[in-house]
Amino acid sequence: MSATILDGRRIAAEIRAEVGVQVHALRQSGHQPRLAVVLVGDNAASAVYVRGKVKACAELGIASEQVLPRADIRTAELHRIIAGLNANPAVDGILVQLPLPAHIDAREILVAVDPDKDVDGFHPLNVGNLVAGRPGPRPCTPAGIIELLRRHRIAMEGQEAVVVGRSDIVGKPMALLLLQENATVTIAHSRTRDLAAVCRRADILVAAVGRPGFLGRDAIRTGAVVVDVGMNRLTDPTAMERFYPGDEQRRAAFARNGSTLIGDVDPVAAMELAAAFTPVPGGVGPLTIAMLMANTVAAAQRHVSRSKPTP
Ligand code: GUN
Repeated sequence: MSATILDGRRIAAEIRAEVGVQVHALRQSGHQPRLAVVLVGDNAASAVYVRGKVKACAELGIASEQVLPRADIRTAELHRIIAGLNANPAVDGILVQLPLPAHIDAREILVAVDPDKDVDGFHPLNVGNLVAGRPGPRPCTPAGIIELLRRHRIAMEGQEAVVVGRSDIVGKPMALLLLQENATVTIAHSRTRDLAAVCRRADILVAAVGRPGFLGRDAIRTGAVVVDVGMNRLTDPTAMERFYPGDEQRRAAFARNGSTLIGDVDPVAAMELAAAFTPVPGGVGPLTIAMLMANTVAAAQRHVSRSKPTP
């Protein structure tokens, strides 16, 4: 058996096309949606992600601005920057790229973002909206995974879903969104007893632990849908050969770059055992940005409808 590939690039393109139509309508009505991205310091991976977000805005006709404070910025100064963006009526969405430098308390910063401009859904008020099933922005990666499953017509209702990883950005909101789809949800993590056995219960297995090829054959039930959120850089040639035996394309790219990307799931095991699998790259990754664009446009639509004069 060989797993069906869940093509995140195709679904992301579909979502982006739909968002593009909404951007066009907003611009016709005289409002161009605008996203402000705050990137503190010079984390290389964050810089790549932010570049992707800004590029996606440009492609869809969304205005964007980047605020790029130095890594040693004081918390009070970062507060001033966010207060300025909160107060600026032209800005619909604010995103503070994580992780922040260690001397800044990220929780304190996330609570400072106007919940109505919070396009990541990280503000505690919006976390509460998610928990209570109330409308509000949903964190982009888990929301993108739900779209990926829906648009591939993968049933969630009544299914056993196991989410491995309990981060605020992916694991926890993923579990809540699957619950909202009426799945039976288990959250597993590094301390879970007999993790592989818990994973084998899953009809839908979501891996978000940030460890290269962490879940192997013993964690995948035959016929499961496996969603791999991991994005790890593999630099060890022996591990590369173990995870991608006979993959000449990867081997050539590895020789060129000295590394290759791998998710949290052993790709050979997933291809062999799963009914469907998200590749890395090209699976979950593109959906995060597509959902960020959708959240930004939704915020802009709220702002436009609110500023209309009452007749
Ligand atoms: N860092 C890793 N993922 C994300 C994300 O979805 N949003 C933000 N703001 N930072 C991140």
